[in-house]
Amino acid sequence: MEISIDLGTENLLAAAGGKVLLREPCLLARSLSSRAVLATGEAAAQMLGRVDEDIEVIQPVVAGRLADPEVAALLIKRLLSQVLDWKSRLWPRLFVAMSDTSDSFACQSLFQALRPARCVAVPRALAAARGAGLPVGEPRGQALVDVGAGSTEVSILSMHQVIATRSLQVAGQALDEAVRLHCLHAHELELSLQTAREVKHRLGFAVPERAQGSFSPWGRELVSGLPRQVELNALEISQALQEPLGRIARGIQQALEHVPAGLAADLVDQGLVLTGEGARLKGLCDHLQQTLELPFRIADQPSTCAVLGALQAKSSASLVLAS
Ligand SMILES: Nc1ncnc2c1ncn2[C@@H]1O[C@H](COP(=O)(O)OP(=O)(O)OP(=O)(O)O)[C@@H](O)[C@H]1O
Ligand SMILES: [Mg+2]
Repeated sequence: MEISIDLGTENLLAAAGGKVLLREPCLLARSLSSRAVLATGEAAAQMLGRVDEDIEVIQPVVAGRLADPEVAALLIKRLLSQVLDWKSRLWPRLFVAMSDTSDSFACQSLFQALRPARCVAVPRALAAARGAGLPVGEPRGQALVDVGAGSTEVSILSMHQVIATRSLQVAGQALDEAVRLHCLHAHELELSLQTAREVKHRLGFAVPERAQGSFSPWGRELVSGLPRQVELNALEISQALQEPLGRIARGIQQALEHVPAGLAADLVDQGLVLTGEGARLKGLCDHLQQTLELPFRIADQPSTCAVLGALQAKSSASLVLAS
């Protein structure tokens, strides 16, 4: 059996046979004293912020980088065992979408810890490009911008190869933090990061002129320390997002400065394709288009491109990095 995996800062996805098998928060909760695994995925996310000194909730991928390969392997095994018979003698072959900038030592540790399953690393940008339906085998250049939670990765592809990748440490979580800081300064209201994310999803517009709507989240009032609900409008939230969005645009610009001149014209012709769930921020495409004066478009299913494309990418041996 062949299964593809996309390990992200916030989300872990697995797919087989062209279908997404699982999609869970990339989190594992463990007892500090006994080291026993208490929960994984969504159940572990429920434990975030809970006041129990014996529980640690571990995020094995931080800012787009594999920080704890052993925990990542444990999480993959546990989550996969919920959707397939992991203990059967037929160990699946795992195709793991890995960033070109990821640490190969961490990658090897992950694969060791996943034994006896056999693992293959597939360059994530190629996987995402295949999943987005881009003609990556052609000599033309293609540009892909994956906006995740912890990182934004800009990749240039041509002839089945990742010609250049640049990873920026600013993505969805930086937007959540901007929402949180805005609420602290403008309303003296402390939001949890989960609530800040929900506010971003509801009220975040990358182009403030289009912002509409309001939402009243619960947070903690700084002065009294009590739970309070404050009405937020989309305009203030969208304005708060402009600073990190500016950093994303500048990072993309810097990444494109290194593209060989011969490919640069192709990028304008083809347009730059956005993948990653962060691409769902309303108006992001238009914001980037206006700021950088380049054509952008969002892939059809931006959040599943990498996991679905990883199995397509593996069919061409030249796409596989290591086994
Ligand atoms: N509707 C939405 N509007 C804005 N942002 C969204 C929306 N839906 C999801 N997101 C954001 O997308 C991000 C998660 O994207 P994704 O699952 O691609 O990241 P990841 O793969 O876990 O992270 P990374 O690739 O950086 O390691 C989160 O920051 C989340 O808040
Ligand atoms: Mg990702």
